[in-house]
Amino acid sequence: MKRILSGIQPSGRPHLGNYLGAMRQHIEMQENFECYLFIADLHALTTVKDPKLMHDQTYDLATSYLALGLDPKKTVFFKQSDLSEHAELCWILDCMVKIPFLERAHAWKDAKQKGNKDVSVGLFNYPILQAADILLYEPDLVPVGQDQKQHIEMTRDIATTFNTTFGETFKLPEAYIKEEVAVVPGTDGQKMSKSYGNTIEIFAPEKELKKQVMGIITDSIPLEDPKDPKSCNVFKLYKLIASKEDTQELANKYMAGGFGYGDAKKTLLTKILEYFAEAREKYEEIYQKKDFVYGVIEEGNKKAKETSSKTLEKVKKKIGYIR
Ligand code: TYM
Repeated sequence: MKRILSGIQPSGRPHLGNYLGAMRQHIEMQENFECYLFIADLHALTTVKDPKLMHDQTYDLATSYLALGLDPKKTVFFKQSDLSEHAELCWILDCMVKIPFLERAHAWKDAKQKGNKDVSVGLFNYPILQAADILLYEPDLVPVGQDQKQHIEMTRDIATTFNTTFGETFKLPEAYIKEEVAVVPGTDGQKMSKSYGNTIEIFAPEKELKKQVMGIITDSIPLEDPKDPKSCNVFKLYKLIASKEDTQELANKYMAGGFGYGDAKKTLLTKILEYFAEAREKYEEIYQKKDFVYGVIEEGNKKAKETSSKTLEKVKKKIGYIR
């Protein structure tokens, strides 16, 4: 059976971009792959500096995954900071990578371009920790959104450097990116992202969710005129969760005219609530079961450690730390 691994930061409530670009695939792939999924809370420390937020968002993310259908019997679900192997391998890989290589990373280049002088060493080093996350579990595929593609390519390069220096050690992973959801647009048409404040959060209370959907930016074509569905942010999101028939029906309404963007947004909101109805209900239920949620993570940590500690031991032997 082929193996997948992926991670997600507990840096806010999961949004439609996270779900469609990554989480949905993670849940679906449980059936046919050996799955490792983790909460990337070491990475989240680059932005989350409040202990209560770190804790609450981690718990919220674990609950969200379970509500969406993550089955702990099928998936090893764990928390990055509970496994010292990640930080340990990160250091070893740090010593394999030259600074100019890291300077090519998009996140670092963006921060520099924006003149942000308050960038931590952690943010600079972010891709190497991600390489450690991946290489420890020797996955065949890493299911992610388009924004992570460069990180997977860097992981392959870092693994190759290590393999060339110390002999064949790491397996080279491949990114698994679904084209139609590679970049899910946010309420302003840019990529949906916590850092742009343009998200639609799938487990937000209904009132908040409504506010986010109603805030989607559209053009100013009058209600009575025909509209082009393909150029509308509301339609683009609708298409990603609705059936073919419902999508065609909405497209027809756009093109016929007499159908305003307010109507389209209400249609999208109804669809989101319908699509996530079961998960939203389960979320409320699971959220109360603290022992269960923490138990799942504890169990996942143990299984993850079995795999990651073996890889780290192999690495240490290659380096000459142990015999
Ligand atoms: P993060 O937490 O930013 O996002 C989690 C997942 O959601 C995807 N995603 C999107 N996909 C499509 N359209 C969007 N608008 C969108 N926004 C987010 C991301 O591509 C990602 O798959 N660095 C990672 C976490 C990480 C990781 C790893 C992932 C740490 N170590 C090892 C894979 C393997 C991150 O920040 O994801």
